[in-house]
Amino acid sequence: MAQLEQIAAPGSEWWRSAVIYQIYPRSFADASGDGIGDLPGITSRLDSLKELGVDAIWLSPFMTSPQKDAGYDVADYRDVDPLFGTLADFDIMLNAAHARGIRVVVDLVPNHSSDQHVWFQQALKAAPGSPERARYIFRDGKGENGELPPNNWESVFGGGMWERVIEADGTPGQWYLHIFDVSQPDFDWTNEEVREEFRSILRFWLDRGVDGFRVDVAHGMIKKDGLPDYTPPADADSMGGGEDDVPYWGQDGVHDIYRDWHRLLAEYDGDRALCGEAWLPTLKKTALWVRPDEMHQTFNFGYLMTPWDAAELRDVIRNSLDEFGAVGAPSTWVLSNHDVVRHATRLALTIDNPQGDGIGPKTPGKPDPAIGLARARAATTLMLALPGSAYLYQGEELGLPEAMEIPDEFRQDPTWFRTNGERYGRDGCRVPLPWEADAPAFGFNETGLSWLPQPTEWTTYARDAEEADPTSTLALYKELLAVRREHGFGSGSLVWEDAGDDTVAFQRGAVHVLANLGSTPVALPADATVLVSSQPFEGASVPVDAAVWYVKA
Ligand code: GLC
Repeated sequence: MAQLEQIAAPGSEWWRSAVIYQIYPRSFADASGDGIGDLPGITSRLDSLKELGVDAIWLSPFMTSPQKDAGYDVADYRDVDPLFGTLADFDIMLNAAHARGIRVVVDLVPNHSSDQHVWFQQALKAAPGSPERARYIFRDGKGENGELPPNNWESVFGGGMWERVIEADGTPGQWYLHIFDVSQPDFDWTNEEVREEFRSILRFWLDRGVDGFRVDVAHGMIKKDGLPDYTPPADADSMGGGEDDVPYWGQDGVHDIYRDWHRLLAEYDGDRALCGEAWLPTLKKTALWVRPDEMHQTFNFGYLMTPWDAAELRDVIRNSLDEFGAVGAPSTWVLSNHDVVRHATRLALTIDNPQGDGIGPKTPGKPDPAIGLARARAATTLMLALPGSAYLYQGEELGLPEAMEIPDEFRQDPTWFRTNGERYGRDGCRVPLPWEADAPAFGFNETGLSWLPQPTEWTTYARDAEEADPTSTLALYKELLAVRREHGFGSGSLVWEDAGDDTVAFQRGAVHVLANLGSTPVALPADATVLVSSQPFEGASVPVDAAVWYVKA
């Protein structure tokens, strides 16, 4: 592999190289003081993101929603939920971000709506076979009286994927499909009316000035004809990603929809972008989502799922640059988001923890926090040196670990309820951020309320504490982002270097990058000058679980 050069797909659009910071609005900053973050809270903290040095923010959903799945159950796609503020608050936030040179990407949830959406309410009242039902996936049940679900599919959140409705005459009737919670009925994307409605929703937000969309469950929108039975392997991740040809994931029909949206976005100025959430079995298949006339980016979940192992990381980086490069798209890189165990914890896991399972009080073998943090800092140092666009998830710049001790009574993720507590779900990565060590709710708001309890030991992770400490994770992120920008790491080429089996090493222009994933320190060349290091060290050897950027004299 030594000397192999890989060149990122060329192009000057902002999304090819951007560092995009994910805001989970309910946990970012809470101006109203009700314990749930909001849009004015985001506006009030934008300066801290400017100082961090990100190019864009992506907001998880803040649209009108009964919040059965933390806003991923949308009842009105063209309005803001009162929990988060108003459309006017959104416009203020958007303008304030733009004024600071920060682009804004919003979450679009097209696979399903809330059961409180007016269309679904109309569908419930309408008769089988009606145009109102045809917007969703209603089917007659099996069995003598239709008492059995139409097929054997299992919901991502546990339990079956079908719910039976009571018809207008009071008798049990048809069933509707929901990949996720029972309150999240799937749209029928073969229906032109659904397509037209979403074109109009895209325009609604584009007209307001958003720079792009993160497309939720982009791999689920089309189901295989005939809805055939399917049983995933026992160790499958709930969002898919491990298996080929799942009748509800990654069906070819999705590509027509993205092409349509690509054309629509191209009518607008300013390189508006689509980023797909698609959990797929291979990077080759994932790259199909970002062919030149489809989405602009897709999350690199293959990278996120890679364990802390040098050979596997080298492979996934090489394959990502190859596969995305082959279709002219940038690779993206991501280590954490609101659906996975935070990487400061995940990278030290010693047992299997499938995506969506989470970690809670009864999980055996809790990861060592010091090892987790060292690896997380090294992993980010490696990631931010890679060509392409990188995603950060709020709180990782503080080195936040997963909140592993949330008492059962506070849990909110539907996964917890639908599996009767068998899977903890995703609450542990969604706890409100600590801003100030000595303030109520660590400065998340002024009242001290918090929709999920914040661990008391988060005092040391509070932003103001880290701002005062030059060795903090926050200081590291700021430095990495500044040097990344200065050297243009988001684009260009990468030349692989060989520094031993337990390392990942490459060169970006004049800068060398080396991550040590082994069990002994790795010596740097005699003429090396370290630019940034994921942890402070004495002497000339990179410690275990550390990564450095250096130049040679
Ligand atoms: C996506 C979201 C996740 C949500 C699911 C259903 O995977 O990231 O949080 O629960 O879609 O909308």
